[in-house]
Amino acid sequence: MNQNFKDTAKHQGLRRKLVNTLRKKGIVNKAVLEAINRIPRHWFMDSGFLDHAYVDKAFPIAADQTISQPYTVARQTELLEVEKGDKVLEIGTGSGYQCAVLLEMGCKVYTIERQNELFKKTSLFLPKIGYRPKKMVFGDGYKGLPEFAPYDGIVVTAGAPLVPKPLLAQLKVGGSLVIPVGEKIQVMTVYTRTSSTDFQKKEYGEYRFVPLLGDKE
Ligand SMILES: C[S@@+](CC[C@H](N)C(=O)[O-])C[C@H]1O[C@@H](n2cnc3c(N)ncnc32)[C@H](O)[C@@H]1O
Repeated sequence: MNQNFKDTAKHQGLRRKLVNTLRKKGIVNKAVLEAINRIPRHWFMDSGFLDHAYVDKAFPIAADQTISQPYTVARQTELLEVEKGDKVLEIGTGSGYQCAVLLEMGCKVYTIERQNELFKKTSLFLPKIGYRPKKMVFGDGYKGLPEFAPYDGIVVTAGAPLVPKPLLAQLKVGGSLVIPVGEKIQVMTVYTRTSSTDFQKKEYGEYRFVPLLGDKE
């Protein structure tokens, strides 16, 4: 991560252009676009990639993982349909960027990371730049975080070969799980809880994510 926390007029200009690109690609949620416009994405990237921070692409971070493409972050957040004050669980803290977007939107964020190197790095980094999730946990996201459930929204930021049942169980009625499902290619899938026993499923196109690793229940 870039430890030189400057946000110059040049960065801000590049960010406005990125937001315009996201709008052209179909992102309409104002709160999401405003959050992306406010957050210096270059602070979340390793120094070798700073020049690319405002290109709409995923880039490597530590532990062979990636910071997701801005469009993907925007689309997953939009699909969550969360509002200020909502309680959100994120699986895959990674660089902390998606978490920062949710915090900027006024959500209460609980986030889990399975790679210890990233967990340590990001749990020091986020508070340093003023972002304070309710809870950052080192562990396996397949199990969710039942002690703080239920959640208004759950977002999985790695490709899941199957939909973890504990995550569905931890949703509020009316809440949604946004999860890319599949092995090599994933389909962005949204499960909305319609009652204590029922879920509505919708699909939103293909993506490529690093894999969700773990015990698979
Ligand atoms: C695309 S990357 C990170 C995206 C991240 N949200 C961001 O904004 O940078 C996906 C992350 O999921 C993590 N991950 C993979 N399997 C996991 C699991 N079972 N539980 C929690 N995190 C996991 C990876 O280590 C990686 O950091």
